[in-house]
Amino acid sequence: MSKAFITGVSGQDGYYLSKYLLDKGYEIHGTVRRSSSINTSRIDSLISEFSETGKFNLYYSDLLDQSSLSNLINLIEPDEVYNLAAQSHVAVSFKNPSYTSQVSTLGPLALLEVIKNSKKKIKYYQASSSEMYGGKDDKLLDELSLFDPKSPYAAAKLFAHNLTKVYRDSYDMFAVNGILFNHESPLRGETFVTRKITRAVARISLGLQKKLTLGNLDACRDWGFAGDYVEAMWLMLQHDKPDDWVIATGESFSVKQFLNIAFEIVGLDYEEYVLTSDKYFRPNEVNFLKGDATKAKKELGWEPKTSFNDLVKMMVESDIELSKREKVLL
Ligand code: NAP
Ligand code: GDD
Repeated sequence: MSKAFITGVSGQDGYYLSKYLLDKGYEIHGTVRRSSSINTSRIDSLISEFSETGKFNLYYSDLLDQSSLSNLINLIEPDEVYNLAAQSHVAVSFKNPSYTSQVSTLGPLALLEVIKNSKKKIKYYQASSSEMYGGKDDKLLDELSLFDPKSPYAAAKLFAHNLTKVYRDSYDMFAVNGILFNHESPLRGETFVTRKITRAVARISLGLQKKLTLGNLDACRDWGFAGDYVEAMWLMLQHDKPDDWVIATGESFSVKQFLNIAFEIVGLDYEEYVLTSDKYFRPNEVNFLKGDATKAKKELGWEPKTSFNDLVKMMVESDIELSKREKVLL
């Protein structure tokens, strides 16, 4: 039975990847941060279903705690390591640049070092990001496009991306970068724009909220479904040689277009509810992202399965159910 070690297992992708690998028969070992309040809500269903049989195991750790990472990897001896942990909010990275950078650079460094020194051949997946491109114009971006980071988050991710290549080339390690474009789901953090919108649409439609305040409505993103994207992570580690792959839908939509579709689902016009505030604009913006996943399609056989419209609908419907429960509690 294969063992996977997943950092950031309590995050959006952590849930979908764990579910995907558990269905394949993997044993999961995931790290969570100790927190004074519960931070495992996304993975509670996996804990209740799989922890007693030893298929889903959690450990306290932090990407800044190098010794805990190396102790865990040496103890567990996983076949695959998926490094998903990060302070993943771009706007927050401007406010907390030091913390964001340390987590996304020292964490991967610690993981790559312990894997390099391990007697076991362990495969490594690094969660790279389309943010690294900087997205100035509407060009289609692929593995050969130039990186031009616009935030502390993106600069730190680029360091980790390059470091993964350095270890791959220098030490003959199976280390890959998945350059994933934005991917969303009903489990997306509530301060990312898609989920902020779908939460608000649901609450407004049920009379629980009156307005929604956002930042740049003209920004465009290539938005896919997280459940489709975790399959690509696994496929990368099954390929015959390590490399870097772009994972994207090949379509880009603006925040306005997202708003339009999301509000239409509940029969409302977004222009009557949406305000903008400087508070949600960033010191530097990534205006446009659209990815070309041709290489992943050819080499990994990966393709996105969920359309943009279906993604928005899935998120709005899930948030309506959530808000109905909220309404009952009031
Ligand atoms: P997410 O929902 O924000 O999850 C991040 C995970 O990292 C959470 O489990 C979080 O724990 C954990 N974490 C944060 N700081 C940590 C630290 N110092 N030590 C250990 N764990 C820490 O992010 P996601 O959307 O699942 O994304 C997964 C990864 O892919 C991230 O590295 C992200 O930067 C990258 N990525 C995401 C996208 C996207 O569109 N979703 C696209 C490209 C790349 P808590 O639950 O305790 O906060
Ligand atoms: N979060 C947020 N909140 N974004 C807003 C808002 C708002 O109120 N209003 C407009 N936006 C715009 C942002 O300025 C940005 O251009 C776009 O919506 C998307 O913002 P986010 O949803 O925060 O995602 P992101 O694209 O910055 O970053 C996500 O995708 C990256 C991959 O490209 C994150 O998941 C990163 O971790 C990931 O690497």
